Amino acid sequence: MKRIVILISGRGSNMQALVKSNIAQVEIVAVISNQSDAAGLAWAAEHGLATEALNHRDYEGRDAFDRALMERIDTYQPDLVVLAGFMRILTPVFCTHYVGRLINIHPSLLPAFPGLHTHQRALESGCRVAGCTIHFVTAELDCGPIIAQGVVPVLDGDTAEILAQRVLRIEHQLLPQAVADFVAGNLVIQGNRVNRLEAGITDGLVCLKN
Ligand code: GAR
Repeated sequence: MKRIVILISGRGSNMQALVKSNIAQVEIVAVISNQSDAAGLAWAAEHGLATEALNHRDYEGRDAFDRALMERIDTYQPDLVVLAGFMRILTPVFCTHYVGRLINIHPSLLPAFPGLHTHQRALESGCRVAGCTIHFVTAELDCGPIIAQGVVPVLDGDTAEILAQRVLRIEHQLLPQAVADFVAGNLVIQGNRVNRLEAGITDGLVCLKN
């Protein structure tokens, strides 16, 4: 059984997709948020999961918060920590502590558009495709070995909100698949590349046609 801690900051729809996917040999041991009023936290509690809130504003700085967060996470002895809409920049100490067992979902086709406002920036750049990336986390923001990417078309008339909805649909497919590949021990990090020991569930790419 692999133990997974999920970190969220808000709605938690990716966390829900992961929970509902019921991956074999996976136990979601806790959902932790830096926002006590995160909607996703209430959903997780209603579904019988252990939940915790650690408000980053209660700590003196990034280092203190990350240390406290690490302490809480480690009580669950996770094999994998999933950042599913966790809107905090993490310190190098945190990233190093969980190296190889910390993954993030980001709503762009990295290395394009790290950071915020990814959909607006994709539209302004005239991109014909957009999407999401699941990657192992390193100390550099939104970098790190890419596990899987989901691609969607950018359509005429798209707004950032419409594009975000389309990308979210593929996020919900891709995250459980990437986690299943991790849990199966199928992912091998070689430099900045992730190779698969066997043909994976996705081979790292999912395309949404409409
Ligand atoms: C998702 O689109 C996720 O990719 C993004 O936040 C959203 C969270 O939605 N993450 C980031 O921007 C991280 N840099 P959710 O709470 O409904 O899963």
